[in-house]
Amino acid sequence: MTNIVKSPEVQALFDRAAGLDQEGGNHRLKAIMRDLLESLAVIVERHDISESEFWIALKFLQDGAGEFGLIAPGVGIEHFLDLHMDAKDAEVGLLGGTPRTIEGPLYVAGAPLVDGDLSRTNDVNLTTDPDDTETLTMAGRITGPDGEPVKDAVLHVWHANSQGVYSHFDPTGVQSPFNNRRRIQLGVDGRYSFRSKMPRGYSCPLGGATEKLMQALGRHGDRPAHVHFFVEAPGYRTLTTQINFGDDPHARDDFAFGSREGLLPVPDRSGGNPHIEFDFRLQRTGSKATSALSGRPRAAA
Ligand SMILES: [Fe+2]
Repeated sequence: MTNIVKSPEVQALFDRAAGLDQEGGNHRLKAIMRDLLESLAVIVERHDISESEFWIALKFLQDGAGEFGLIAPGVGIEHFLDLHMDAKDAEVGLLGGTPRTIEGPLYVAGAPLVDGDLSRTNDVNLTTDPDDTETLTMAGRITGPDGEPVKDAVLHVWHANSQGVYSHFDPTGVQSPFNNRRRIQLGVDGRYSFRSKMPRGYSCPLGGATEKLMQALGRHGDRPAHVHFFVEAPGYRTLTTQINFGDDPHARDDFAFGSREGLLPVPDRSGGNPHIEFDFRLQRTGSKATSALSGRPRAAA
């Protein structure tokens, strides 16, 4: 097999292509681009990728660009980013707390901020549209590392409806804005409670790039039923997480790799409707950067 990546000619090519011989530009981007080019070239050589295959792959990515937010978790890279952040946390002794897991591409900023302070209200409802599925209730506490109640937290919640479809991303157009999406303002005791309608798991869009890729890899593109959360509170690190329903057939076989131990509660159905008790434990921070949401570009409405 030919092996020219390390030749002086190819090394010089990638140095120049990444702008290393130029003063200007973004130095971090240049360094990353340099490594990216070499990594790609190594793959081309290792698999003897033909010119046809290269351009077909590029066209696939071009056509599938609208689904990158789904392809990223589907190929495990979004979960890898979580593992990478976990490993960095472990290095500096930041251990414990509710595990983080993937955000996914379907958060929409601007959901109604509702009063969820349980000293004033006992009925927080996420669902605006009629839905004949079961009512889901969830309740629990948000605490810090020592079990202290977290004051003034905002719990962002978003999930699919009983058809496995999210408001703002519903091709049938039947859902009203922010159905199954709320920001819940909690009180001083860190307790939360809400009711909603039981979501269903979903598959990646039929005929789309993610589905085609999963088929080509011999995999399915299904997610278990789940509920997404951001937990924000002054003095604490913002947590991005989700629960996968522990009794869903795909609970431990999530194509997006969102399932993690500690995030698989099984709903209690002894009272008829599914109920989940789930506590969040946050880590403290003094840094503004980790108390804010990540800089990921998100939809807004
Ligand atoms: Fe989701």
